[in-house]
Amino acid sequence: MTVLVTGAAGFVGNNVVERLVNKGQSVRALVRSTEKAQKRLGKFGDKIEIVQGDVTDRAAMKKVMRGVSAIVHTVAISMEKGGMTYEEVNYQGTINTVDAAVDNGINRFIFISQNGARADLPYRFLASKGKAQDYVATSGLAWTALRPSAIFGKQDEFFNTFARLLRLTPIVFPLIGGGKAEFQPVSVLDVAEATVRSLEDDSTIGKALDLGGPEVLTLGEIEKRVMKALGTGRILFPAPVWFLRPIVGIMQAVLPGSPVNTALLELLAVPNTVPNNALVTHFNMQPIPFSGEHIAYLRDNTAGQALNKFFTNAVVN
Ligand SMILES: NC(=O)c1ccc[n+]([C@@H]2O[C@H](COP(=O)([O-])OP(=O)(O)OC[C@H]3O[C@@H](n4cnc5c(N)ncnc54)[C@H](OP(=O)(O)O)[C@@H]3O)[C@@H](O)[C@H]2O)c1
Repeated sequence: MTVLVTGAAGFVGNNVVERLVNKGQSVRALVRSTEKAQKRLGKFGDKIEIVQGDVTDRAAMKKVMRGVSAIVHTVAISMEKGGMTYEEVNYQGTINTVDAAVDNGINRFIFISQNGARADLPYRFLASKGKAQDYVATSGLAWTALRPSAIFGKQDEFFNTFARLLRLTPIVFPLIGGGKAEFQPVSVLDVAEATVRSLEDDSTIGKALDLGGPEVLTLGEIEKRVMKALGTGRILFPAPVWFLRPIVGIMQAVLPGSPVNTALLELLAVPNTVPNNALVTHFNMQPIPFSGEHIAYLRDNTAGQALNKFFTNAVVN
């Protein structure tokens, strides 16, 4: 049995690949950039097969699935870049992946969705993920949708961004959106584990399962934990969304590796918590907390890396 992981060089994707390899699973890794794949997946050598492809290319998706028995579809963009839109990649790319699976007679499909995703929301990112999930759920495939809250881990973009900004700013730091938005940060190790268990657990078929960490944290609390992990402190001042909107607009226009865009900023209005946490209720796991040694990786961020990331969009971790 070979599992195709799409977005395999991505943050969630390469952690899923690692978990599958450790279980002795045969893996085909679909990547967009071979350079990033080398950095993130090179260590697996010939234990995995790496193929390059784009989910927006329907014909290529059909070819890439030959000989595959299950799919973990992680590809999505949270920022629109290079002319690619949420609708093209997150929605149409999922349609292409699902249709190619159906055409190739592949039945098992794990979709990495997003906590809060819903087709009828006014937020384009969450709506694109919601429409994609609806398509998966009506495909006739043996599907499972996993819907994580914000995911933390060595290569995350969300929490590392705070660490990078802290490395570049002295004395004061903004409480983004006032710091009240709620999250339930979940470890990428737990998300990868739930993904791999889902493949073997038929009781997850036809289910959308929300995944979260053990604690609900406000953004203000998250910022304080990041500071603690870095061994630093700042005077925090509330920065409401209306104040940040034009600043973020400029960042997204001029920085190739802007850590945020205005579409994501608006998501602070949507609680990202997981009242029914399937890590606990379904998988019987003890989720890893966003604290202590589990977030020590944040210390690896340096000012130089932060500048490199923001100004060149380099893969720094
Ligand atoms: N990170 C979180 O906090 C979080 C929370 C909840 C849900 N999720 C979901 O988890 C999934 C994975 O997210 P992630 O954080 O791992 O993101 P990521 O690191 O950006 O990984 C996504 C991967 O998809 C690839 N990709 C983008 N467009 C593509 C295309 N057109 N064709 C083929 N590959 C393409 C990217 O390639 P490049 O590297 O070349 O761009 C990247 O490797 C997403 O579905 C996301 O919605 C993430």
